[in-house]
Amino acid sequence: YPLVVGVDLGGTQIRAAVLQGATLLSRANLLTGDNGTPERVIPRLFQAVDQALADARLTPAQIAGIGIAAPGPLNNRTGVVISPPNLPGWTDIPLRDIFAEHYQLPIYLENDANAAGLGEHLFGAGRGSNEMVYLTISTGIGGGVITNGKILEGIAGAAGELGHITVDWRGEPCGCGNVGCLEGLASGTGIARRVLAAIARGEGEELLRFARQQQPGLHVDEELRVDARLVAQAATAGVPLAQQILGEASEALGVGLVNIIHIFNPELIVLGGGLMQMGAQLLAPARAIVQQRAMQVPREMARIVLAELGPNVGLVGAGALIYYNQM
Ligand code: BGC
Ligand code: NA
Ligand code: ZN
Repeated sequence: YPLVVGVDLGGTQIRAAVLQGATLLSRANLLTGDNGTPERVIPRLFQAVDQALADARLTPAQIAGIGIAAPGPLNNRTGVVISPPNLPGWTDIPLRDIFAEHYQLPIYLENDANAAGLGEHLFGAGRGSNEMVYLTISTGIGGGVITNGKILEGIAGAAGELGHITVDWRGEPCGCGNVGCLEGLASGTGIARRVLAAIARGEGEELLRFARQQQPGLHVDEELRVDARLVAQAATAGVPLAQQILGEASEALGVGLVNIIHIFNPELIVLGGGLMQMGAQLLAPARAIVQQRAMQVPREMARIVLAELGPNVGLVGAGALIYYNQM
């Protein structure tokens, strides 16, 4: 494999790496920042790329191209980031051309979950499977569908927005503006938002007590950190509200998987993203829903497994865009 650069633009972190196949030769991490407008973030993206290149003792002329994975919706043909729910302030940013002008290299922009799905397909749990669906469950929820060995793009890369399939048609608000999306119920932001809403309704006493025990150094007026990880810990410790919201998240995930199985008849569903570190806590109830609700024929063909590339999946997938597009 030729040397490439992968860039993973996330709501929380910016990562860049020099890669050869799935092997990282160097890597740089920066924070996206709370006010992650394009004006602030794009220079940081360049900085991360330059740092990764410098650490590998390479110049841009020595690499075959740069692949950028970014949250959707985006247009992978024109290379424009359109309006991602988890990157506020980014509207119609021609990121591919901005990079091409700066580095004078072939640049590919792809939806982050599509790229990660490609990464798992070429180098991870999806090796050898030409009919697979990758689902990332993290800040947002994204999908990458590989069919016939190719990324399912739709017209321009916005196919496979599996975080925004409706799993509860009267359901919870989602960052995309809709209600009842899988992402609104089962993502990190969705779980945190639901817990905060319950706290606001006065249902959170026991959970808040647990949170304070976990964060003992906190002053009364300091804000408690209530995120999906804390909710998972609270659920394990037996806090009913946490158990209820996580239970509903994993049921929603199960319903999402049923829909995915019915639409794509995949051989393999690969689950990745930070929240899958909860593993069985999230997956076991979801599997039970699949067992109860999916049609037998496609269900029995679909294996559901955890991703193999771990936190580097986005970088590996971004770099893989060059192999995918050039070879
Ligand atoms: C976006 C997807 C993205 C996912 C993970 C969702 O909110 O709509 O395009 O893949 O987050 O970043
Ligand atoms: Na996608
Ligand atoms: Zn949505």
